[in-house]
Amino acid sequence: MSSSDELLNLLRTRRSVRRFRPEPVERALLEKLVEAACWAPSAGNRQDWLFTVVTSPEVRGRMAEAVREKWRAVIDANRSQGYAEGMERYVQAYAMFPEAPAVVIVSARVPGLVQQKMYGDETHVTFGGFCSGAMAAQNLMLAAEPLGLATCCMTGALVAQPKLAELAGLGRKQEIVCLVAVGRAAGDVAAAPARKPVAEIARFIE
Ligand SMILES: Cc1cc2nc3c(=O)[nH]c(=O)nc-3n(C[C@H](O)[C@H](O)[C@H](O)COP(=O)(O)O)c2cc1C
Repeated sequence: MSSSDELLNLLRTRRSVRRFRPEPVERALLEKLVEAACWAPSAGNRQDWLFTVVTSPEVRGRMAEAVREKWRAVIDANRSQGYAEGMERYVQAYAMFPEAPAVVIVSARVPGLVQQKMYGDETHVTFGGFCSGAMAAQNLMLAAEPLGLATCCMTGALVAQPKLAELAGLGRKQEIVCLVAVGRAAGDVAAAPARKPVAEIARFIE
């Protein structure tokens, strides 16, 4: 098999896993994942990212509680709209930190005043911190696979971003891009959800 086939195979077989075995993930493996993440491209090669690896059961528990509390408030506020039931089904998928032995909080530096002045409304997209952070998260998740680790990227939890940032001690100069749950999969991993065909998602301007 050529290395490009192997890469495509890795891209196809990586799955989001939401149920983990309880054993901790070794610190050396977690460091390897962060190293893989830092080889992602980044805007201006600024590497404005930070990876806060939370293994503390206490902090993970408090993170989950903060997310559940915030989602409860969102659901209550939207009951009359008829969205609540659908949302309730997903809350567990937004707060699975206690079950995941490690959660990596991927954050990016907030653009400074100079950038805001230069780029105006386009500051976030031009600065590229979020895009860089997302690329790093993908590297991390792909690197986990051959190490026998399973991952799930999460943004549903970011409804409680201020509280999560506080629990992680991030300060005001970082904003969370996503969280990545890391552990060893419990039970069988679900089949891949279907992908839209290329013809549906690609546009060629020739
Ligand atoms: C930006 C982003 C946010 C996501 N947020 C969540 C989440 O909050 N909870 C969750 O269970 N899965 C989350 N996922 C995982 C997606 O549901 C998953 O990637 C998608 O269903 C495709 O499945 P696959 O990753 O196994 O291919 C997220 C994925 C991405 C890329």
